[in-house]
Amino acid sequence: MMGLMNNQGFVPWLLGVLFLSTLFLCRADDHYYDFFVRESNFTKLCNTKSMLVVNDSFPGPEIRVHRGDIVYVNVHNQGTYGFTIHWHGVKQPRNPWSDGPEFITQCPIQPGTNFTYKVILSDEIGTLWWHAHSDWTRGSVQGAFIIEPAQNESYPFPKPDADQTIILQSWYNRDFLEIITTALSTGQSPPNADAYAFSGNLGDTYGCPNDTIFRLQVDYQKMYLLRIINAAMNEPKFFSITNHSLTVVAQDASYVKRFTSDYILISPGQTMDVLLFANQNMGQYYMAMRPFSDSAATPSNFITTGILQYTNSVGVPNNNTITLPLMNDTSAAYNFTAKIKNINIKQNPPLDVPRRIDRRIYITIATNAVPCTESTCVGPRKFLASLNNVSFDFPTTDILQAYYNRIDGVFTRDFPQNPPVFFDFTGNLTGVNTNTTEGTRAVVLNYGEAVEIVLQATQLGAGGNHPIHLHGFSFYWVGSGSGNFNNVTDPRSYNLVDPPLINTVQVRGRGWAAIRFFARNPGVWFMHCHFERHSSWGMDTVFIVKNGTTPKTSILPPPASGMPRCPGT
Ligand code: C2O
Ligand code: CU
Repeated sequence: MMGLMNNQGFVPWLLGVLFLSTLFLCRADDHYYDFFVRESNFTKLCNTKSMLVVNDSFPGPEIRVHRGDIVYVNVHNQGTYGFTIHWHGVKQPRNPWSDGPEFITQCPIQPGTNFTYKVILSDEIGTLWWHAHSDWTRGSVQGAFIIEPAQNESYPFPKPDADQTIILQSWYNRDFLEIITTALSTGQSPPNADAYAFSGNLGDTYGCPNDTIFRLQVDYQKMYLLRIINAAMNEPKFFSITNHSLTVVAQDASYVKRFTSDYILISPGQTMDVLLFANQNMGQYYMAMRPFSDSAATPSNFITTGILQYTNSVGVPNNNTITLPLMNDTSAAYNFTAKIKNINIKQNPPLDVPRRIDRRIYITIATNAVPCTESTCVGPRKFLASLNNVSFDFPTTDILQAYYNRIDGVFTRDFPQNPPVFFDFTGNLTGVNTNTTEGTRAVVLNYGEAVEIVLQATQLGAGGNHPIHLHGFSFYWVGSGSGNFNNVTDPRSYNLVDPPLINTVQVRGRGWAAIRFFARNPGVWFMHCHFERHSSWGMDTVFIVKNGTTPKTSILPPPASGMPRCPGT
């Protein structure tokens, strides 16, 4: 069958879809969910706050379907402000209408209204998640999106006896929307998290006796599949379980070569499937996480705990045994990510790494401090962030609508494909101009182009790593290194053999990362740092993939029932 796929333009992709259909989708099912989104009270850190959540729960309901299914989610806004929901890591072939980022593919769902998303799965397998995609609302509006193998499809590892979702979160005593609104108007940095949580549980390290602790109950000699989601606002996390090693089997809904480690590193936006064998002495063990940071702006260095508890075991876990890398342990961080490799098995999509590229886009990542003229600013400067020295300005009409209906004046098509000025990006930049331009500038790609994006961290502002997420695609992470990217020598070190297929790449501080993909998903796709602070400051851009030459390579029409109305229309 593979032999029939030749190498001309869209034809292999279409056949690829058909191929995947026969491979994975023996029987694709439709699923229907209702999300009622409203304020509920939660008490943590001995403090009660009201927050916007789905179906009164934090985290929200888990979606659990099979590979290749279609999921309809009717989102009812019963709150007091507009928001949208994004299905993080779902590629939504040709269907940007249901992707979700606010003012990119839709306007917010207004209070008292509802909108049904059509979430089209294709080859995603394993763990993804969903979250609000407006301001900082994702801090409370979030949940897991589990994709089990299709009927007749097996796991490429011993079948786990059970699985368990673990969502890594940030907890703030203040309201998420209020935090970012205040920070943007004063020009100051939003505060660090007050705590971190495992699926809503803060554990026993914060000193409030009423806080609950996450418990994972296991039977001796059984195998568990942990589905770990980093939904934290601004912090990559180290995670470990005392005395137990972790076997990584998938990242971002794609299988990887199995490897074992005492800890994992997972960045905001990333998901990791990990096997845990309950083969230690029956007892109780701590699971723990703490942030990783290679930035000068460090997050709160809290250790958060949960408990792995063998059925019928007695006693309490010993907190002297928690082992986690230190917060600034960059070798622990980057040694771990270097182990992640794609695996060539029938349960993964056939390897499709562009070997030659049609274009390379080289993008510098920066945080900026610019003069503030607004009266609400508390100092002479305010924080912004940028890609290629463009700080993204969110429009008030969504870009998808403007593109599809040819409405002028919403965005421009001139996002720079190279940094406007070259300097020693990763050197000592004290005294360098920290200004940035602002704009709503998109990159337009031709259908089927082989694209490489090189993401270059800079030491402007606080420096440090960035988890960069692209909507509408999984891409191959083909290379990374420290220092400034060299376009002659660095591509020689690329891994085009078994690069991981992911949707969020961690660009290391003082370094770069390169990704490749074929632009075969027509639509309007957001790309941004998954640190919410950076994204709010403008570390974002938009990729528009033009239609191909046939209806099957073109954007689907908008939903017949319409899209949410934009403010003022
Ligand atoms: Cu997890 Cu643009 O999102
Ligand atoms: Cu960032």
